[in-house]
Amino acid sequence: MLKILRAAAHSERTCAAKSEGLRKCSSQATQIKYPKRIFSGIQPTGSVHLGNYFGAIWRWVELQNSNEAVLCSIADLHSITLPQNPQKLRENTLLMTATLIACGIDYKRSILFQQSKVSMHTELCWILGSITTMARLAHLPQFKEKSESLKNVPLGLYIYPVLQAADILLYKATHVPVGQDQAQHIQLAQDLVQIFNRQFGQTFPIPHTLISDGPSQRIKSLRDPAKKMSKSHTDFKSRLNLLDEPDELLEKVKKAVTDFTSEVTYDPEKRPGIANLINIHSLFTGQTTEKICEEAVGLNTGQYKLKLADIVIEKLSPIRKDILRLTREPAYLDEVLKEGTERAMELATSCWTEVTEKVFGNDIQDVKNII
Ligand code: TYM
Repeated sequence: MLKILRAAAHSERTCAAKSEGLRKCSSQATQIKYPKRIFSGIQPTGSVHLGNYFGAIWRWVELQNSNEAVLCSIADLHSITLPQNPQKLRENTLLMTATLIACGIDYKRSILFQQSKVSMHTELCWILGSITTMARLAHLPQFKEKSESLKNVPLGLYIYPVLQAADILLYKATHVPVGQDQAQHIQLAQDLVQIFNRQFGQTFPIPHTLISDGPSQRIKSLRDPAKKMSKSHTDFKSRLNLLDEPDELLEKVKKAVTDFTSEVTYDPEKRPGIANLINIHSLFTGQTTEKICEEAVGLNTGQYKLKLADIVIEKLSPIRKDILRLTREPAYLDEVLKEGTERAMELATSCWTEVTEKVFGNDIQDVKNII
């Protein structure tokens, strides 16, 4: 199911052609075997929606359950690039911890931690920021999108992808499972690996982007299927949240934008609204889109929406209950994060020591001529 985008291989080829130094770095990189390590992150900004669930969390659980080493970071440093209430941010961090556990992240097998508690993320961000150009960052779509509505754009929003690269590199991650909207950020991380390794010697593996080749890579907004389902969309009916009450889920599915054709058919190009609903149905049940349409013969889209709403409610209810149960135990959630942070810190420290030695040359024996 997983498609590994070989953008890394492509950039390796491109830059190999560019310079002899880089040829050396690419060949060194292929000689070194890095342990497979999966890293991803999610911002603690309120309730998780189906886009986050199918595009990311679901995949992390799948990878964890096939015995991969998965690091899940609650990216609170990324969240503060837009104004946050500190109390709410703390609560949302614990809510995200509860959500990830309720979705199947086992904090004993995976490493679940709070990004801001490992200060080396920001320190490595500074070093990577010093080898990134402003021109490279200005092109990234998320910055353009998020800064559009702001009069004064915070610098943090601009360097946000560099912090994301630091997150990945700090653990020498080899694979990064994300939704399609994050692809260009991971490409930046791949570029920064090339630049860093060329400048300071082979240090990091090229992180591969893991994006599903199916519809879960981009779950669409229920109100505007040309757009992705998003936490920042002002219309709350545009997304189905894991914490929504059954009535809310029903209401949102009923109000989902479709078109003027009443049959249920799957045509993502011509009928994106109904196709998005069928995709959600298929992701929840594992049925093919053909089978779903076959079973929906004789139903109009209004009737089909009621059927889908039942499925969504049935699948999300146990997760919602579990999230609510876990949120009644904040001390436990805090403990989970502390344990995860300790384990993350151990991995990060070994990488950080190597990085600082390479960048700052810590060894006094190397000093030859001060003047
Ligand atoms: P965030 O919090 O916006 O989203 C978390 C994950 O959910 C995916 N996603 C979607 N997938 C499919 N369809 C959608 N409609 C949809 N909406 C969101 C996102 O692609 C993401 O995988 N900057 C990141 C968090 C982060 C990170 C990292 C990710 C911080 N450091 C390092 C990977 C590696 C973010 O804001 O994700």
